Amino acid sequence: MAHINKLKFIKINDLVDEDYCLVGVPTYSDEMDDDLAGLFKSQNKKGNVGDLVFEITEECRIAYFGLGKFEERTPEDFRRAAGTLINHAIKNDFKNVAVECPAEEEEPYFCQAFSEGLILSSYRFLNYFTDDRANYSLKSITMVGSCNKSSAEKGVKIANAVCAARDLANHPGNVTTPTRLAEFAKEVGEKGKMKVTIFDREKFTKMGMGSFAGVAQGTNEPPKFIIMEYMNGPKSEKPIALVGKGLTFDTGGISLKPGLRMEEMKFDMCGSAIVLGVMNAIATLKPKINVVALIPSTHNMLGGSAMKPGDILTAYNGKTIEVLNTDAEGRLILADALAYASKHYKPSFMLDFATLTGAVVVTLGKIATGLMGNDQSLINRIQKSSDNTGELVWQLPLWKEYCDQVKSKIADVKNLGSPGQAGTIAGAAFLKEFVGENIPWVHFDVAGTSYHVENRSYIQKDGASGQVIRLVLDLIGV
Ligand code: BES
Ligand code: ZN
Ligand code: ZN
Repeated sequence: MAHINKLKFIKINDLVDEDYCLVGVPTYSDEMDDDLAGLFKSQNKKGNVGDLVFEITEECRIAYFGLGKFEERTPEDFRRAAGTLINHAIKNDFKNVAVECPAEEEEPYFCQAFSEGLILSSYRFLNYFTDDRANYSLKSITMVGSCNKSSAEKGVKIANAVCAARDLANHPGNVTTPTRLAEFAKEVGEKGKMKVTIFDREKFTKMGMGSFAGVAQGTNEPPKFIIMEYMNGPKSEKPIALVGKGLTFDTGGISLKPGLRMEEMKFDMCGSAIVLGVMNAIATLKPKINVVALIPSTHNMLGGSAMKPGDILTAYNGKTIEVLNTDAEGRLILADALAYASKHYKPSFMLDFATLTGAVVVTLGKIATGLMGNDQSLINRIQKSSDNTGELVWQLPLWKEYCDQVKSKIADVKNLGSPGQAGTIAGAAFLKEFVGENIPWVHFDVAGTSYHVENRSYIQKDGASGQVIRLVLDLIGV
């Protein structure tokens, strides 16, 4: 992985002593003097977020980066402005960048957001280049001025966890295997004093996870069911459960996907990358809460023993499932994880994350994550965290009429809704069948927002975005 993983901090007076190639200076469009306004204007810019103009002095190159109007500034503006600056530095092979913090010490969340933007935008995935494209010139980022250091450092830790999760997702399916995800979970577990349990194929099949086992039976790559328990809160407090789809490659199975862009299906484990990213940040920040993570992980392949359309599977909660399309496998592996979490942890609430449907990309584009659940107040809280973190979500309804569409004529449920209708909601309607009674639950369909996201300066558009980790950390109070 290539990214800057820490910030340096210095007082403004010390700046000249250091050898910086680029010095970023925050600029509010309504607060600049005439000279600066003229500089922006000469390049047809106004100081909006994303605007960048330069002044070259003897010592260094000063970049004035726009933040829009002072009164209207948001944390997301700070992340995006940081991204513009760092992308410029990387594009021009600069080594050491200094940047004046645009927020005061008394504005901790702005400082956190700015440092998140700096680190997140410094990320590049260069692991497989053997030529000079592997060169990553950026060596350091230094924050200058009266920034709130502990908040900025919190932002760095969170962004580092996001970058590590991006890495997991960017490595291809022959590297990020279920075994690798299990290994990563163990590394995080050791760092954060978590209990990590891994069930292999034989074990989870015997335990009754027939739905997950059904998907995994078409591949020779060993599948894993990963459980992480972080219990650092009051003993009496029920844990929060996080469930992630760890589909390390989705061919579609016997209902084979078309070849075009099938390689993108290495990203089908991005739900699990969110969960591992959250647990990784928790391991570093050590909040006083109880959280359990559950990740069913397998390839979806079409080996000789693969499940077939029409097969009927029995899930961990005893419900029978008619498999009408082997490519709707995410919901099958999540079914057992949701049922297992409901039974063994009785969580205070449960969230699942999955690249579940192509339909959500049609509905919400690569802009927002689709949300559906059984508890409106939890969804409202998620909406609030979305506002804080700039990670966009949008709720879709989960009315009874939709839930009826996953009833099967021959088993309890089928893994498809009605043909050509509301595919994303059908996915959630199916999952709902495996959530224990009275457990608040929300499903995040991240198929559109997990990779190849455009127009976010702090997210490289080629590759995994790492989105939703920050939202969840905000929600659970980390
Ligand atoms: N992993 C896919 C969903 C997906 C599609 C993610 C495009 C990212 C981009 C999922 O397993 C799948 O194949 N879903 C099917 C469901 C259908 C068969 C009901 C889909 O969306 O086509
Ligand atoms: Zn699929
Ligand atoms: Zn899938």
